[in-house]
Amino acid sequence: MQLIWGYGHAPTGIYLFELLIPVFFSLTRLVYLTPLFWAMIGGRMDTMSYLLDHGANPHKVDDRGFNPLHRAARRGDPEMVELLLAKGVSVDPVSASGTPLHIAAYNGHDEAMKILLKHNADCNKIVPGAETLLLAAIAGSSVKCVKLLVEAGADVNDGLITPLVAAATNTACLKYLLEAGANPNVPDNFGRMPIEIAALDGSREDVEILFPVTYCIPTVHDWSIDGIIHHAKSASMKQGDHSNVRRMAELKSLAVNSLKRNDYFSAATLYSVAMKHDRHDATLLSNRSLCFLRMGDGHKALQDALACSEMRPGWPKGWYRLGAALMLLKV
Ligand SMILES: *[C@@H]1O[C@H](CO)[C@@H](O)[C@H](O)[C@H]1NC(C)=O
Repeated sequence: MQLIWGYGHAPTGIYLFELLIPVFFSLTRLVYLTPLFWAMIGGRMDTMSYLLDHGANPHKVDDRGFNPLHRAARRGDPEMVELLLAKGVSVDPVSASGTPLHIAAYNGHDEAMKILLKHNADCNKIVPGAETLLLAAIAGSSVKCVKLLVEAGADVNDGLITPLVAAATNTACLKYLLEAGANPNVPDNFGRMPIEIAALDGSREDVEILFPVTYCIPTVHDWSIDGIIHHAKSASMKQGDHSNVRRMAELKSLAVNSLKRNDYFSAATLYSVAMKHDRHDATLLSNRSLCFLRMGDGHKALQDALACSEMRPGWPKGWYRLGAALMLLKV
């Protein structure tokens, strides 16, 4: 396919301009940041403590709606989390990315999660635009985080996407969730069972683990490990279009820059252009779904997330996006 516009012909001025936009926006953001945020960015516990003792407001949110506890959870710093909680910050404030527990789980920060849970963070909390905490931990690929949540009482069969659908290709999470009572016979949004997802995108071991606990699927004629793998692979029509690699990389990097400055409209537009070049890249769909989600368009977010999970069922982050979109529409 002919490119619409290519870097080879773009004047350098435009290129420079594109580079300067993020710099400009980063500078304007600095105005919002309090000394407390600066201390956190620098990892200075002593300064944080001093500021908090002298009247710094630990509840103040930044321009993106994140308060210091969200930020500490994203850093995964347990001491910082502990300090903020000791100063009276509530444990479950909701941001665009969910509660601090969501953020810690999604980033695989088990130590920070431990502190939050010790302070009674709600491990079954439902918030618009974020999925269950268990799904966040699976998306973060951390079996440690998954365990912490289950031990704290998270429901292993809850959610608009079940944990086993999202964990079908993560061997450690899969084993643990089955032991904890997760149901392997609930299909995904396209009618595929976790074992089919594992056969399509996971390892043979994942299929072997699921085989003894999955009910026989009538459309699979040869009900054996090899039979299921063969069936799943022949049913999917996977093919990649790897042309335009360079153009795609440029579009992605522009889109990510737009995402970074919360310009979801531009990012979504860039992803749409990128999709014309590569119709088989599920990450484009997942990120455009996030853009629509942040713009409050649940239906479009859902459409992209559905397409993403259909294309790449073994990718937990895709399932997380789908759950988040459904949750936005529901709540
Ligand atoms: C999607 O967004 C994430 C940040 O949220 C970024 O790290 C990643 O590179 C993006 N992927 C694509 C294909 O743009």
